Amino acid sequence: MSPSLPTRLLAAERPPPAAGALRPEVAALALEGLLAPRKTVPPILFYDAEGCRLFARITELPEYYPTRTERALLTASAGAVAARTPVGAALVEYGASDEGKALLLLDALRDPRAYVAIDTAAEALAAMAARLARSRPALAVHVIATDFLRPLALPPAVAAGPVLGFFPGSTIGNLEPPVAVRFLAEAAATLGTAAQFLVGIDLRKDPAILLPAYDDREGVTAAFNRNLLRRLNRDAAATFDPGSFAHRVVWNDAESRIEMHLESRHAQTVQVAGRPVRFARHETIHTENSYKHTPEGFAALAGAAGWAVREKWCDAQGWFALCLLARAAP
Ligand code: TRP
Repeated sequence: MSPSLPTRLLAAERPPPAAGALRPEVAALALEGLLAPRKTVPPILFYDAEGCRLFARITELPEYYPTRTERALLTASAGAVAARTPVGAALVEYGASDEGKALLLLDALRDPRAYVAIDTAAEALAAMAARLARSRPALAVHVIATDFLRPLALPPAVAAGPVLGFFPGSTIGNLEPPVAVRFLAEAAATLGTAAQFLVGIDLRKDPAILLPAYDDREGVTAAFNRNLLRRLNRDAAATFDPGSFAHRVVWNDAESRIEMHLESRHAQTVQVAGRPVRFARHETIHTENSYKHTPEGFAALAGAAGWAVREKWCDAQGWFALCLLARAAP
């Protein structure tokens, strides 16, 4: 008997990692990115229920300054935004998985007519609508569970009146610049020519501040990044071993962006929806970009989509900005 036989038998007897069920739309999105020469997975797939929970923890980390900086800016500027917004306006938020920031505006706006929350996380939207029904019974709440990059229409009652768009969290930075321009132009069409749009942007700054914000000591951001693999195991019939991928964060100065990657610790082949996906050692899945714009760079993006920066609020350190956009004069 060959000495290697028992080992081979053992390997053969070990059951393959169990693949989960298949959600065809998730599998299609994942495979498109994973079969490309440089592997990616669309960031929208981060936000399953566990991804939303982990993201909520990220926003409270000491290293993650954007959320608290933006909240302070909102608190300071809500009165000025309200003064520039018509009475009875509807607030329309893109990427709204919790109402915390919207409430700062809703409490300042004069007699807001409605709140429209658009997000891909259907469960989080439903939970938020239930909370608002209790805490703000007089407010008309509409939730739209969709990818906000797709064209969408406001409920007719909302479209008929004044509108304030709201895109907080520096989510605009997660879009490739040409996609950001397309999004801003599409939002203009959705919100209407008279609308204003309040957009939060994380500004370009020292990488010594930026890097820890995406690579915290507790490892919450690493868990958020790896949760993508768990999600693919569940929804895309994938066989990832999340522990065999390392969380990697890079500051790409030329592109002015933070990049998040999952780096394969060794050569391996993973099944995704019945297709083999091969990884070389150290090969990465590029999972997210977070562009850090300058105020001028952002004004140029907005301008390319037909918006002008009407007013801007920035913290004392120059880390984050809230920009109030209005349609540029043609
Ligand atoms: N838009 C925010 C940012 O880029 C939030 C965010 C999106 C995020 N994806 C992330 C934060 C991944 C940490 C990790 O900062």
